[in-house]
Amino acid sequence: MVRLGPKKPPARKGSMADVPANLMEQIHGLETLFTVSSEKMRSIVKHFISELDKGLSKKGGNIPMIPGWVVEYPTGKETGDFLALDLGGTNLRVVLVKLGGNHDFDTTQNKYRLPDHLRTGTSEQLWSFIAKCLKEFVDEWYPDGVSEPLPLGFTFSYPASQKKINSGVLQRWTKGFDIEGVEGHDVVPMLQEQIEKLNIPINVVALINDTTGTLVASLYTDPQTKMGIIIGTGVNGAYYDVVSGIEKLEGLLPEDIGPDSPMAINCEYGSFDNEHLVLPRTKYDVIIDEESPRPGQQAFEKMTSGYYLGEIMRLVLLDLYDSGFIFKDQDISKLKEAYVMDTSYPSKIEDDPFENLEDTDDLFKTNLNIETTVVERKLIRKLAELVGTRAARLTVCGVSAICDKRGYKTAHIAADGSVFNRYPGYKEKAAQALKDIYNWDVEKMEDHPIQLVAAEDGSGVGAAIIACLTQKRLAAGKSVGIKGE
Ligand code: BGC
Repeated sequence: MVRLGPKKPPARKGSMADVPANLMEQIHGLETLFTVSSEKMRSIVKHFISELDKGLSKKGGNIPMIPGWVVEYPTGKETGDFLALDLGGTNLRVVLVKLGGNHDFDTTQNKYRLPDHLRTGTSEQLWSFIAKCLKEFVDEWYPDGVSEPLPLGFTFSYPASQKKINSGVLQRWTKGFDIEGVEGHDVVPMLQEQIEKLNIPINVVALINDTTGTLVASLYTDPQTKMGIIIGTGVNGAYYDVVSGIEKLEGLLPEDIGPDSPMAINCEYGSFDNEHLVLPRTKYDVIIDEESPRPGQQAFEKMTSGYYLGEIMRLVLLDLYDSGFIFKDQDISKLKEAYVMDTSYPSKIEDDPFENLEDTDDLFKTNLNIETTVVERKLIRKLAELVGTRAARLTVCGVSAICDKRGYKTAHIAADGSVFNRYPGYKEKAAQALKDIYNWDVEKMEDHPIQLVAAEDGSGVGAAIIACLTQKRLAAGKSVGIKGE
């Protein structure tokens, strides 16, 4: 492989001049299928706002809009040592956060790979694995023991209904998780029980969604933060609403949470448009949904999050193969495996700096046992761009809906997640999409009124700050949930 210099050159657009007419026709077809116009985005945003409102109403709707019982803004002055546990899509992280009290913090963390079989194993296996990791961490960092149990903020990045901050009943698994015996149950006692079994001095004081954590952590350092969003294995956003605007809490609030109080809302908007009214779904999106463990759920997430981007590409490639357009006479048995193409595929393909897409060639040869022609690779590259761009354009519709609902004309949207952080060109695509929605006449994305900015570590630092805010409220005898909880 010939490198063009010591550093990889930037990815190139590449010419399509040598692509034969029959493949060009396929490419044009895909462009039509995957392109989301500005007008379409605006109509999605409009419907999104009404769905957010529905979620806050007593009757409810598809978007859960879960009150997260964070009823204060962080001041940046919070101090103390807190543990954070982050059960995300792929890894488990344990973090010791030392809040400095001057918008600053220190963290020490261990990461544990979540064995694949746990995603579809039993509840007992999951919680005991987590407890073992916690024990390992505490034994390592507190070899002499502790005088008081360590307060822990548990970032549980799945839709969990919360009557109070230290409880969360899992509504349904997302992101390919399918562990029996957890849906419909409060996950906090399940975790606490395993912690106690191993005699670990830990008290779970708060259950937090990763988006809420991101919102609060970023607000701790950046007062312009208006939302926390995750664009990773899953997709979701959180923002602060005002209690009087949350109809479904009417009559349920304790006296010390007044109508003007802020309330962090974990939207769970990955489930936007489960009714399939506005999203521009293709036949590939339909297959993904039908073959997923939870058909009919997470319609928005299935078109936008990292868990599905490679799979969408794979289904298109299989279709083109079946119609005789690509990979002629090749053994495609590997490509037939569902989810064999994770997000690293579109990501690496979009990042390929070579005119002849040499890195893509390697990727297909080594991982999928498929020899590709330059022309096929150009199609693959175009497809990756289309799928990634569609994801970015749809994702920001959620951001725009919240900003419009709350009347934010300017905002920092604190964003985290593997797709946001690592997918080549994603930030630019998202900024362009927001610009298209609002018709801003501003060139540089750094000058856009609403900007996606890299977030602070929400699942670690955010969870710790929320644990701290909760402890303070409890110490002052204040409520952290609905009346009577
Ligand atoms: C979950 C959310 C989470 C998001 C990002 C979704 O699948 O339902 O709770 O915030 O992924 O991790």
